[in-house]
Amino acid sequence: LRHLLTLEGLDAALLTEILDTADGIERSLRGPDKKLATLRGRTIVNLFFEPSTRTRTTFELAAKRLSADVLNLQMAASSTSKGETLFDTLKTLEAMQADMFVVRHEASGAAHFFAEHAAPDVAILNAGDGRHAHPTQGLLDLLTIRRYKSGAGSGGNCFSGLRVAIVGDVLHSRVARSDIHGLRALGTRDIRVVAPPTLVPAGIEQMGVRVCHRIEDGLDGVDVVILLRLQKERMLGAYLPSSGEFHRDFGLTRQRLGAMRRDAIVMHPGPINRGVEVEGEVAYGPQSVILQQVSHGIAVRMAVMSMILGRGGRGRSPVASRPA
Ligand code: CP
Repeated sequence: LRHLLTLEGLDAALLTEILDTADGIERSLRGPDKKLATLRGRTIVNLFFEPSTRTRTTFELAAKRLSADVLNLQMAASSTSKGETLFDTLKTLEAMQADMFVVRHEASGAAHFFAEHAAPDVAILNAGDGRHAHPTQGLLDLLTIRRYKSGAGSGGNCFSGLRVAIVGDVLHSRVARSDIHGLRALGTRDIRVVAPPTLVPAGIEQMGVRVCHRIEDGLDGVDVVILLRLQKERMLGAYLPSSGEFHRDFGLTRQRLGAMRRDAIVMHPGPINRGVEVEGEVAYGPQSVILQQVSHGIAVRMAVMSMILGRGGRGRSPVASRPA
């Protein structure tokens, strides 16, 4: 097991080990020297077939801070635009002795395709595939929650007593799925999915969440709210509700913050649609940890890369994943 494709199936011990590793890496980089030698001589290729600001840059920074050589393929300028297949792209770059591929793609399952066809000593990290999974976003969200909420739960597990609301376009959200898998594995029982019926996937209750169609119910007494963007790029044709209707009924405003606990934190994976899922003042207000999420993305990605490639070599990683 040597890829990270999804958080589904990862247990609490492994998730905690990743978060602890990220904490340790961050502590060790507090000084002016921001580099570790862990992945010196390794080559990591970023393949982003979809736009990205946070994920691509923090993966690149993470790899560089671990001293790896990093290639960022510009997909629009690559031979995929001439019709080269994913398989041929993978094999071509493997021939350059790449050790790891970080893959973002609009198709659910794309990262699994890479993992299925990768050479035995090559690792695949899913940087977001369609509406399926965004495992490192899930991990950085868990790290952020742990940083702000440690001590909130019983028995030393801050996750077990948490009340979490995930608000917005859950239907098209790979972040929501990864967050739910991670939170459930770590013991969170009160997870509310808050959205209009048109933006809730059928059967999501089977993931162990409660569905709320009124934001007042969803936010009541929560410790954490995770906001999601309306993902219009995944909506074919007209979408319901409109941005204005969504903001009126589900947007996080200063007034609605009052329904949450006073020490509740506001999270968002980004990018934000200001004035739609969140008011600008709330996104950068005192309860917001949105920029801290971005910072935690570097530590979490360094942790995952070093756990897969840095200990005992390729193919012997404890970071497990099973195909969807
Ligand atoms: N959270 C996230 O995936 O953001 P980007 O699309 O900017 O990478």
